[in-house]
Amino acid sequence: MIDLKRIINNLIQCRSPQELIDEGTNSDLKKTLNIFDLIVIGIGAVVGTGIFTIIGSAIVGSSDGAGAGSAIVISMILAAIASVFSALSYSEIAAMIPVAGSAYTYTYATMGEFMAWMVGWILMLEYAIGNITVASAWTGYFVQLLKGFKHILPAWVVNYPLWLRNDYRSMYEICNRQGLDPHNMMPFIHLPWGWEIPVAANLPAIFIVLVLTILLIKGIKESTKVATIMVGVNLFIILSFIIVGAFYVQPENWVPFAPNGVEGIFTGAFVIFFAYIGFDAISTAAEETKNPQRDLPIAILGTLVLCTVLYIFAALVLTGVVPFNVIDTQAPLAHAMRYLGIHWYAGLISVGALCALTSVLLIYQLGTTRILFAMSRDNFLPKSLNAIHKKFKTPHVMTWISGLIVIICGLFMDLNISAELCNFGTFTSFIVICIAVLILRKTEPNRERPFKVPFCPWFPIAGVLTCLSLMYCKFHAKATSALYFIIWLAIGFLIYALYSYREKRRNEK
Ligand code: ALA
Repeated sequence: MIDLKRIINNLIQCRSPQELIDEGTNSDLKKTLNIFDLIVIGIGAVVGTGIFTIIGSAIVGSSDGAGAGSAIVISMILAAIASVFSALSYSEIAAMIPVAGSAYTYTYATMGEFMAWMVGWILMLEYAIGNITVASAWTGYFVQLLKGFKHILPAWVVNYPLWLRNDYRSMYEICNRQGLDPHNMMPFIHLPWGWEIPVAANLPAIFIVLVLTILLIKGIKESTKVATIMVGVNLFIILSFIIVGAFYVQPENWVPFAPNGVEGIFTGAFVIFFAYIGFDAISTAAEETKNPQRDLPIAILGTLVLCTVLYIFAALVLTGVVPFNVIDTQAPLAHAMRYLGIHWYAGLISVGALCALTSVLLIYQLGTTRILFAMSRDNFLPKSLNAIHKKFKTPHVMTWISGLIVIICGLFMDLNISAELCNFGTFTSFIVICIAVLILRKTEPNRERPFKVPFCPWFPIAGVLTCLSLMYCKFHAKATSALYFIIWLAIGFLIYALYSYREKRRNEK
């Protein structure tokens, strides 16, 4: 007979914060990261597709929602507000329980096993599905770069077929927009009963994910070194875009300021939120930080403030330089420079963008592996997945799995759907973190808190409400991504019910 009481007790079983802290202190991971490294990880994870690519559709709009126009700066402030409450909450918990696993681990300490599993599963949306967006955007700038060398490269390299640089959904979208027949644009595999499968694959995206997977297997030390260089390059490029572009701003381009009113501003905030995702990746490195109590909160809040300021200036310059209806949605910053006739600079921006996107990809692949690692360590997944490579001493099986998730799911999702799904996942994990702060203040009132969220409980509650209202916008608009999000939750629930619950108990015996 089913023992319901036991099952419920298992579902809400929490791990004690002290147990987690001890595990983190005794873990084999080396504690080498300082505040500079943490900010590099933060900027490396935050500055990427959002500011280099998605800003275009947040301003102009897409088939799934209106754009904000120049009022994108207000959308950015809204998205930053939604992030700041959660950033404060992350800081409080990360400084108090400095262990790997991020929101997944914190949920385990506050809401029990079932919620922890679901949050881990949702974090896959943020990290792995988010990386589909980043990898697709990478292709966009890669193609821009090839075009920059069109005088040197053969035409078949520069203009290679569209179906080898897009997923099939994007191919259909391109055909729809241009009134073309998809059958003339990509091959189809014909099956019995008139069924057919379109063949399209984003080869540059697959290539870069494979290269980074191999790099990560070879070792994290090399990877963070590469990330530091790339972060430097991309910051330089954005700053120079702001400075050079400022000389060409024409204030009349800012009028009308909000062409689609409040709706455009809110939809823009949901979309551009993608640009802020990533500061929580800092907390995934907590176990490897020398002085987590002091450095984690400074790094998390510092990254958020720095990025918000950069974004607002970049958006003011972009909307001030290029008229609203001319802004490009694939490579808006490079296009702005081309619009001004500074072609060589457009090429330089493409190089910066490729660096930024590569570092985001790298850090997110690492994040996916780290979270899967923590879930497997807790017996939700087979322990064998945590196998360590004999020569490189890295979790190579997990790293391959993380890479393959991006490559395979990338065959079915386009940039916009994956970005919105990633946003749903991140909003949910932010909500959970704000609630976790409230719970821990009740259950662990006396534990030392090197950093405390000010105005508690109001700030965490405000965090929950802002995230909920931005998610509500998309549900209300019945967006495809909202449906996918529900399907993702249902799949997670099924895996837990049919596999992970038993796997965990089996190992406990
Ligand atoms: N914030 C990250 C980016 O914009 C995810 O690429």
